[in-house]
Amino acid sequence: MTSVREIFETMEYGPAPESAKPAQAWLDEHDGRFGHFINGRWTKPSATFEVMNPATGKRIADVSEGSKKDVDAAVKAARQALPAWQALGGHGRARHLYALARIVQRNSRLLAVLESMDNGKSIRETRDLDIPLVARHLYHHAGWAQLLDTEFPGYHGAGVVGQIIPWNFPLLMLAWKVAPALAAGCTIVIKPAEFTPLTALCFAELAAQAGLPAGVLNVITGDGDTGAAIVAHDGVDKIAFTGSTEVGRIIRKATAGSGKKLSLELGGKSPFIVFDDADLDSVVEGVVDAIWFNQGQVCCAGSRLLVQEGIADRLYDKLRARMETLRLGSPLDKAVDMGAIVAPVQLERIRSLVEQGKNEGADFWQPTWACPTEGCFYPPTLFTNVAPSSTIAQVEIFGPVLVAMTFRTPSEAVALANNTPYGLAASVWSESINLALDVAPKIKAGVVWINSTNLFDAAAGFGGYRESGFGREGGREGMYEYLKRERRTDGPMDRKSERANGKRRSGQSVIRSSGQTSTTAKSSRRAAELDDTDRGPKLDRTSKLYIGGKQARPDSGYSMRITSHDGRLLGEVGEGNRKDIRNAVEAAHAALGGWSKATGHARAQILYYIAENLAARREEFARRLNALTGGDGEAEVDACVERLFTYAAWADKYDGQVHQVPLRGVALAMNEPVGVVGIACPDEQPLLGFISLIAPAICVGNTVVAVPSESAPLAATDFYQVLETSDVPSGVINIVTGPKDSLAKTLAEHDDVDAAWYFGSADGVMAVETASTGNMKRTWCESTPRAWTDRGDGEGREFLREATQVKNIWIPYGE
Ligand code: NAI
Repeated sequence: MTSVREIFETMEYGPAPESAKPAQAWLDEHDGRFGHFINGRWTKPSATFEVMNPATGKRIADVSEGSKKDVDAAVKAARQALPAWQALGGHGRARHLYALARIVQRNSRLLAVLESMDNGKSIRETRDLDIPLVARHLYHHAGWAQLLDTEFPGYHGAGVVGQIIPWNFPLLMLAWKVAPALAAGCTIVIKPAEFTPLTALCFAELAAQAGLPAGVLNVITGDGDTGAAIVAHDGVDKIAFTGSTEVGRIIRKATAGSGKKLSLELGGKSPFIVFDDADLDSVVEGVVDAIWFNQGQVCCAGSRLLVQEGIADRLYDKLRARMETLRLGSPLDKAVDMGAIVAPVQLERIRSLVEQGKNEGADFWQPTWACPTEGCFYPPTLFTNVAPSSTIAQVEIFGPVLVAMTFRTPSEAVALANNTPYGLAASVWSESINLALDVAPKIKAGVVWINSTNLFDAAAGFGGYRESGFGREGGREGMYEYLKRERRTDGPMDRKSERANGKRRSGQSVIRSSGQTSTTAKSSRRAAELDDTDRGPKLDRTSKLYIGGKQARPDSGYSMRITSHDGRLLGEVGEGNRKDIRNAVEAAHAALGGWSKATGHARAQILYYIAENLAARREEFARRLNALTGGDGEAEVDACVERLFTYAAWADKYDGQVHQVPLRGVALAMNEPVGVVGIACPDEQPLLGFISLIAPAICVGNTVVAVPSESAPLAATDFYQVLETSDVPSGVINIVTGPKDSLAKTLAEHDDVDAAWYFGSADGVMAVETASTGNMKRTWCESTPRAWTDRGDGEGREFLREATQVKNIWIPYGE
C-alpha cells in the first residue's frame, strides 16, 4: 500500500471526474436528436449531422443542417415576434433578461457539463468562467434594458438580427450576442458553430421555459452554408459575427450595400510583453492563462510572447518547468488544466502550423510527459528563437502554441507588438506602472491588460482594431451595435426640402475640361456659352488639391469645370486620381502621430480658429454657396461656424470611462482616434456636409483625406485659405477633388486608411463597403441624405463614436 510519505513525495493526482449525468439526461430526453428551435418549438430533425465529443471521439448527438427554408422560417418567426417584443418596453425586457440569468444559474451544472462534453474544454473553466460570465452578461444587460429609454434617447432596436458564433466559447459567445440584442429590443436568429451546437439548443429550451416569448430567440444549427443563408436573408437587419477573419471578410462583402448593420469580432495574434522588471513568477502564471487556457483556442490568446532580452532565458526556463507540471486529460476531470482540441480538423491545423514553425527554423519544445493519443489532444508547446516574419509569428494558430521573441527597448517592444494585421488584445508586464501605462496606448488593440491577462466582464466592451474586426461586445458601446438612431429624414428628400437644403439637381454640373464630357454634352455647351457672356461671375482660377498643407496640382493634369445651380460656369477644380489619394494618405499618416497626441485643448483652439476665420469671410462663402446651390448661403455658413464651435467644445470633453469590473483595480475605457479617415462628403449642402464630417473626425485626433461634393466642390476648395490661416498642422486635413465614387473606392481600398466614410449613392455605398475588406477597415456609409442643418441629424455623439474606437486598459492594483 502507498504510504502517506510516498504520496507527499510524488503528489500524484487521483482522478476527480465530474459526473456527465445531467447532460446525458438532457440528451436522452431528446433521444440525442435535435431539430432547430424556431418560434418557441422544436422542428423535426432532418438532414442531420453528428456532434462528437472531442475528448473521446464518440458521437453525442445528431443535429440538423439548416436549409434556406429553415432560415426563412426562423426569420419569419423573429419578424412576427418583433413588434410585441419592442412594445414590451425596457422594463418588460429587463424582467425577461433577469429571468434568463436566473435560469442559467439554476442550470449551471447542466450547462457546464454539456459545454465541456461538446467542446472538450475543461469543466474547471466551463464551471468557473464560461457559465458565470454567461449569467453576468444577462444580468448586466437586464440593466441596460431597464435604462434604455433614459440612457439611449432617440434610439430603437435594430430589428431582426442574425448572429453567427464560433466554437471556442459556445455559450459565452451566445450570451455576448443575445443579451444586448434582447435588451435593445431586437429579435434573434442565431447559429452556433457546427462543432458545438448543444448548449445553444439547451439555452433556447431553457429560455422558453423561463417565459421568453416564442420567436424572440430562434436557434438554427448548421455549417457555413446555413450561416451564409442568414447573412444573405433580406429579412435580417443586422449581422453579428464572431469567427475567423477569412469568414468575416466574406460576410463584409456579402452585406456590402445591403443596409444591414454589421459587427465583426475576428481573429488575433495578441502580444504578451514582458519587461525585465516584471515579476517573473506572476508572468509564468499569466502565460498559462494567456495561451493554455481553453487549449489556446481563444481569439485574444497571448500567443506571441515578447520578452526583454536580458531575462529571456530565465523566463523560458521557468516556463518549461511550469509546462512540465501542467495536467492535460479528460475535460470532465476537475483537476486538469487542459482539455481537448475541439475537432480533428483543428488538431490537424495546429500540427501542420507547428511543422511549419520547425521547418522555418524556430526552436521547438514540449514537456516530457506523454500526451493522450486517443481523442483530440495537443500538448502545450513553446517555440523560441522565432523570426517576427515567420508563419507561426504571424498566423493565428488557435491552439496551445506559444511563440517567443525578444526585444531590447520599449519602442522595439511596441513595434514588434504592432507587427501584425490584427489588433484584438495585448498584455503588458512590468512592475513600473509608468512604463506599462506608457506602452499601453501605443499598442493597436482593443483591450490591454496590465500585469494580467484574459480578463473579461460585461461592463467593459470587448472588440478589436484593424483585421480583428469592428464593433464592441459589452458595455455601453456594445449596446449601440444593436440600436438604430431614429432618423429625422427617412428617405430621399423631396424637391422642396432639397432646395431648402441647397441640394443640386443631378446631371447639371460636372464638366471635365479639354472637351471630355463627364455629364452631358448639352450642359457643357451651355456652360461654355455662359462663360463667354458677362451674365455670370468671372471665371476663377483652377483650384488645386490640398495635400500636406500645400496646394498641389492633380497628377492627371485634368480639371473639372464646375457650374452654378443654374448652369453658369463658376470655375474649375483639379481632377484627383489614385496617385493623389496615395499622396494625401501619406501626408495624413505623417501628421497622425503629432495630431493624435495633441491635447484636446490644443485641438479645440484650432477648431475655434477655423470657425473665426470662416466667420470673417462669411459674405464671400455665402455668395459662393448661393451660386453653387441656389440655397441660403448665409444660413449655411452660419451653420458651419456653429458646427465648428460644437466640435471645438467636444474636443476636450469626449472622455472615456472608468469601468467597475469585478477586480481589485480599474478598467479604463479610452476613446482613441481611429487613425486616418477617408471621407467622401455628401453633395447636398456642400460646405456644411463637409464640415460636419471633418470637424468631428479631427476633433478627437484623426487626420483626414476628404473628397468634397463632386458637383459643388468650390466651397471646400475656397476653404483651403481658411485652413492655411488657422494654424491647422499640415497633413491633418487633406482635400482631393474629383470623381467622388472612384476616389472613395480608392480610399476604401487603401490599407493605410483606417476608416472609410461615404455619403452618397447606394451604388457608392456598395462599392466602398466591398472595397473595405482589404484591411477590414471600419466603414460608415449612408445613401439616405441627412438634414445637415438639424442638430440631431447633423452633429453629436453619433459622429464622435464613428470617429473613435474604445480601448479598455485593465489595471489591477494592490500588493
Ligand atoms: P469560422 O470562421 O469558419 O467559423 C465561425 C462560424 O462561422 C461558424 O458558426 C461557421 O459555421 C460560420 N461560417 C463559416 N462560413 C460562413 C459563411 N460563409 N457565412 C456565414 N457563416 C459562416 O471558423 P472555423 O473554421 O471554425 O475555424 C477556423 C479558424 O478560424 C480557427 O483556426 C481560428 O484561427 C479562427 N477562429 C477564430 C475565432 C475567434 O473567436 N476569433 C473563433 C473560431 C475560429
